[in-house]
Amino acid sequence: METMLVTGGAGFIGSNFIRYMLNKYPDIKIVNFDALTYAGNLENLTDCENKPNYIFVKGNITNKEEVDYIFSKYKFKWVINFAAESHVDKSILNPMAFAETNFIGVCNLLDSSRKNDVSLFIQVSTDEVYGSLGDSGYFTENSPIKPNSPYAASKAAADLMIRAYFKTYGFPAIITRCCNNYGPYQFPEKLIPLVITNALEDKPIPVYGDGKNVRDWIYVIDHARGIEIVWQKGKIGEVYNIGASQELTNIDLVKKILNILGKPETLIKYVTDRPGHDRRYAIDASKIREELGFYPAFSFDQALKETVNWYKDNRRWWERIKSGAYTTYYEEWYKRQLGLKE
Ligand code: NAD
Ligand code: DAU
Repeated sequence: METMLVTGGAGFIGSNFIRYMLNKYPDIKIVNFDALTYAGNLENLTDCENKPNYIFVKGNITNKEEVDYIFSKYKFKWVINFAAESHVDKSILNPMAFAETNFIGVCNLLDSSRKNDVSLFIQVSTDEVYGSLGDSGYFTENSPIKPNSPYAASKAAADLMIRAYFKTYGFPAIITRCCNNYGPYQFPEKLIPLVITNALEDKPIPVYGDGKNVRDWIYVIDHARGIEIVWQKGKIGEVYNIGASQELTNIDLVKKILNILGKPETLIKYVTDRPGHDRRYAIDASKIREELGFYPAFSFDQALKETVNWYKDNRRWWERIKSGAYTTYYEEWYKRQLGLKE
């Protein structure tokens, strides 16, 4: 049985990817290596715990000894790196944690992967490395790297090191750059789960700036399918954008969710803008479509409704998170912001 290392598999996208892969490929062993930071939650994979081909190991990619240990214990054919500090607002508050995990952590994984002859390393990167767009145009794989937040810069730094590994050592790496994900198990610090859960609690919904920033959305299972096709057919040394061509202003998205829930728009509160807030993201996904045959399978309106229903049906999951210490801290942050413009 071949073994795949998935790092950061207890988070939002990693857990959805692991569930998808375990169900589809029962002959592959998946080792989930995750530090269980505030964003990592083993409850995201409760239904997979007893699968014979699934193993969880707690460990931190910033700790070289722990990374060396996992590579000495298993022979990995593939490494898929999801582990990251992923929240832009948090990177503004604490950039060092982002440099450590998103850059040094990746360097540790690259070193061990190279020394242990992995066949393929996939770095789950982000469209944020390209910076921000104006009203027109799209990010292609050839767009310049112009990150604007500490989060985006730390992801870009990792992408550059991976490029250097490929050029210098012929290291078998591929980078994927996906747009904004939504779906079940997303931590309620991110816009969509924050709006759904605040609305369900009749709490104010903070919209940054004028609410006209644009994000390009993809259902998390489509992202998992995109990574799957890159794993199967991607060309070593290449970058693949992953997207589903679903652009929306934040304010339109928030109103859509309130409408699904039957909640009033009076919950919306415009608050102080995020510093350095990227205006628009939009992915040109023609390369992965034309070269690898990837097409998104989920329609936005349907998958958004299903996502809303998931949060309605899984109140205990997010109520526990929202009552935790991390989120209490965040609530203070929101209250401060709300106070500024109310
Ligand atoms: P998340 O914050 O929900 O999960 C991150 C996971 O990584 C958590 O389980 C956490 O415990 C783990 N982790 C963090 N630091 C670690 C460390 N030092 N060692 C080991 N594990 C660690 O993030 P997500 O939204 O699932 O994003 C996953 C990946 O996808 C990230 O690399 C992110 O940059 C990328 N990405 C996310 C999106 C999005 O919309 N969420 C879009 C494009 C790319
Ligand atoms: O584009 C991919 C990226 O998408 C990923 O690499 C990141 O890991 C992921 O967090 C996401 O980054 P964003 O900053 O776009 O996501 P976030 O959900 O934080 O914000 C989405 C938009 O909504 C953004 O324009 C900021 C705005 N926003 C966000 C929050 C949390 C608000 O207006 N109010 C809020 O309370």
